[in-house]
Amino acid sequence: MLRLDKSKRQFPTYMTHFDILLSRKSHNKLCEPAPSLEELNELFKVALRAPDHAQLKPWRYLVYQGRSLIELGEKFAAASLFKDSELSADKIEKISKKPQRAPVVVISIIKIKDHRKVPEIEQILSAGAGVQNLIMAAHFKGYGAIWRTGELAFNRVLMEQLGLAKNERISGFIYLGTEEGSKAKIRHPEISEFVHFV
Ligand SMILES: Cc1cc2nc3c(=O)[nH]c(=O)nc-3n(C[C@H](O)[C@H](O)[C@H](O)COP(=O)(O)O)c2cc1C
Repeated sequence: MLRLDKSKRQFPTYMTHFDILLSRKSHNKLCEPAPSLEELNELFKVALRAPDHAQLKPWRYLVYQGRSLIELGEKFAAASLFKDSELSADKIEKISKKPQRAPVVVISIIKIKDHRKVPEIEQILSAGAGVQNLIMAAHFKGYGAIWRTGELAFNRVLMEQLGLAKNERISGFIYLGTEEGSKAKIRHPEISEFVHFV
């Protein structure tokens, strides 16, 4: 099995870049150390290289770490309560702790712009490609990630609290950090099920 040497944050030398690409797997147990500010900037540099028709840059990112993760949890709880005022105290507590499941949470935002040649669907795809670039770049740097959404990604109150404009929506909560615990096995799909050479 291909393993990352966490102490050095690098993959074994026998792994090619292609092996590294193939070894990406989402991970939900994420802890410190988190990517540094310098590393985060490198990850975003890759995210911002996503294919982008007409260079619209239909995206932006909010980065939470440390104290701001607690504030984000408070926003999660308030927005959930607004939607369902009968939520139990336990449930609210659980929701408010969600951002603390990793040392860094990135909220990826799709920013739809009016363009005569680039429809909304293309901009959404482009923003999604940006997120995948971010996750893959984190993997290259030896960090784990998981892309989450859930009800909160579609909660209008949360969007307002986060300062999203009318033409913006949340594409995901991207949890980043060092992988903790064992890694699930990667199952590569049968190529012929999805790809036809014509
Ligand atoms: C747009 C989007 C939203 C997702 N939302 C969630 C989510 O809310 N919770 C979750 O456990 N996985 C979610 N996933 C799936 C995980 O990110 C991940 O892809 C999945 O667990 C499979 O793991 P893999 O990426 O290693 O194949 C989402 C994926 C995408 C693309």
